Amino acid sequence: MLRSDRWVSGDDEVAMEHRVALRSAGVAVDRQGGRPVIGIANSASELNPCNLPLRDLVGAVRDGIVAGGGLAVEFPVMSLGEDLMKPTAMLYRNLLAIEIEETLRSYPLDGVVLLANCDKTVPGALMGAASTRLPALVVTGGARPSCQFRGGRLGSGTALWRWWDERRAGDLDDAGWQELEACLAEGRGACNTMGTASTMAILSEILGLAVPGTSTIPSGDARALAGARRAGERVVELVRGGESPFSHCGAGSFRNALRVLNAIGGSTNAVLHLAALAGRLGVPFDVDDVDRLGRSVPLLADVEPSGSGLVQDLDAAGGVPALVGVLGGMLEPEPLLADGRTTGEHAAAAPLPSSGAIRPVDRPVLEGGAFRVVRGTLAPDGALLKRASASPELLRHRGRAVVFNSYEEMRARVDDPGLEVDASSVLVLAGCGPVGAPGMPEWGMIPIPRKLLEEGVRDMVRVSDARMSGTSYGTVYLHVAPEAAVGGPLGLVRDGDLVEVDADAGRLDLLVDAEELARRASAWRRPAPASRRGWLALYQAHVTQAPKGCDFDVLEPVEGEPALVEPVVGRS
Ligand code: FES
Repeated sequence: MLRSDRWVSGDDEVAMEHRVALRSAGVAVDRQGGRPVIGIANSASELNPCNLPLRDLVGAVRDGIVAGGGLAVEFPVMSLGEDLMKPTAMLYRNLLAIEIEETLRSYPLDGVVLLANCDKTVPGALMGAASTRLPALVVTGGARPSCQFRGGRLGSGTALWRWWDERRAGDLDDAGWQELEACLAEGRGACNTMGTASTMAILSEILGLAVPGTSTIPSGDARALAGARRAGERVVELVRGGESPFSHCGAGSFRNALRVLNAIGGSTNAVLHLAALAGRLGVPFDVDDVDRLGRSVPLLADVEPSGSGLVQDLDAAGGVPALVGVLGGMLEPEPLLADGRTTGEHAAAAPLPSSGAIRPVDRPVLEGGAFRVVRGTLAPDGALLKRASASPELLRHRGRAVVFNSYEEMRARVDDPGLEVDASSVLVLAGCGPVGAPGMPEWGMIPIPRKLLEEGVRDMVRVSDARMSGTSYGTVYLHVAPEAAVGGPLGLVRDGDLVEVDADAGRLDLLVDAEELARRASAWRRPAPASRRGWLALYQAHVTQAPKGCDFDVLEPVEGEPALVEPVVGRS
């Protein structure tokens, strides 16, 4: 018996009411039930151009569901637009997850295809579906096209940050700045660099939660239609087989995801999303594994900001299937991918990369791991560095802190000619973590002070409890935990304190004696809440710290309770 049959099969008034509701929406359910009802959770929205290509894929998903013998029901879900949503789309990732979980729980759905693309929509959708354990696959909308500016291709995000520094240094005039704006409005789809969207799409394939070979297909490419159709068909097969991809998504799947994250030089945000997704599934997840497992994985994807190409180039080189083939024995062979074949079977049958966007193992973009996890007196529960986009000469460094205790203060002071700062300083941004901001915005890539830009400085050591965009770069220690707003030592740093980092040794320390720190800690006061009502109050009361992925404590699985607490199906 299907889950949806509890709603639609039978001869009483309740079943009739449900059939009438579905038939009125054009969904031809039978009196006896027996056809899987598959939701299409669509996050396409004009508020979020990254997700607009999903509109073109709905019909193909629907065709696949029908071809598989199911019934398709499309419904809208919140769209988390990274560029427009303030203070950050991350503040609403858990809300999208709740929306999807509760929609699946409360409606007659047997499975779902999740249409998502922009950074937070993929993890939010997967987290919500994971909590129900219903069969689900994600379909992403692909990367947007690129365009030429001043002789080079523009990579989303990365190019803007780079040219903004040039503008502030006085090397880009007004006309150039306007020309750049026109170029950057380059079309619909996700960022075409290795931002969080591309990273999470790729990792969805590795976790067995997306059809293999689909995650790097550019927006508007006809192959995306075939992939979307296959996802629809496959979810019906999974429902009929009584299987959920989430049951196969275990510790080995997450370890492989962390290895691939290193091999693509992916977004630091993915570590948070993987931690949160693993938490939903009750799978142990250790943030240190991103560093430990990654040290033996070469960075092979030559894509900005760690490399020089774009996601389109990675796709043309063979995409994830070819990458899995090159990684071969570096991945655990057992985890199942979404088509039911193992990772090892995929690696054995993989096509050879057809271009240099997937480097051979003996000629990587970088060796020794794309990330470092550091701990110490400034980050007792850890902080994360994207080594692949950091300056090698800054990986070991000692400098005097220049402290900003809020984003507003940082924006107001960073370009002040009177700011006491030099290239050896360590810029510290505190109070911007999950509770502090709230929502942990991508403020961690603190701008280089203008007077240093004018001297030619392009990177400095920066430390923050905020995140940074996957399209960003620099020697930036992120996700410092515990964050300043809950009493972490980051909130006790003062201008002029010595900060010492040693990325390879895994250390991040504040060189202030314990007595002085205790004095500062005793004077510390918890900041007032952003609001005492609504979502902000719920968020600040329940969000966890970075090592647990900033999920809500009340959304973790409860021992002894079924993943999906089924509703009573009676008169409404
Ligand atoms: Fe949406 Fe980058 S801003 S994917």
